[in-house]
Amino acid sequence: MKRVITYGTYDLLHYGHINLLQRARALGDYLIVALSTDEFNLLKNKNCYFSFEKRAKLLEAIRYVDLVIPESAWEQKVEDINLYKIDIFVIGDDWKGKFDYLKKYCEVVYLERTPEISTTQIKEALSIKA
Ligand code: CTP
Repeated sequence: MKRVITYGTYDLLHYGHINLLQRARALGDYLIVALSTDEFNLLKNKNCYFSFEKRAKLLEAIRYVDLVIPESAWEQKVEDINLYKIDIFVIGDDWKGKFDYLKKYCEVVYLERTPEISTTQIKEALSIKA
């Protein structure tokens, strides 16, 4: 069984997120999403519209997602990869190269982002302060 992990904020879930999760799950048999906690978002200067619990509930309802775990620190990735016996780390190519150091522990795949959609864009369109 191939186990895949991805990380993200997933606020105001949109079709770019679904495209990413669908392709990530198709790389293996089990997909874990490490979802940034509200505290971690504060650290990143990201203000989410939906709380961690609500974002997790939305992700858990998606057929491509097998498990949601909290992401509360930048440094937890190696530990997660070992703990969950991860084969593939996946993330959108806006992060291209940034996680190459994980290649020591598993395969690292950067997937092409879906063009012309992002949470920031939705917030701007709805005038929600980021
Ligand atoms: N993603 C994607 N295509 C998009 C938007 C996001 O493939 N159009 C991917 C990102 O590359 C990441 C995951 O979805 O792997 C979660 O991204 P996140 O940062 O939560 O979403 P964004 O819409 O990019 O949010 P923001 O505008 O706040 O950066």
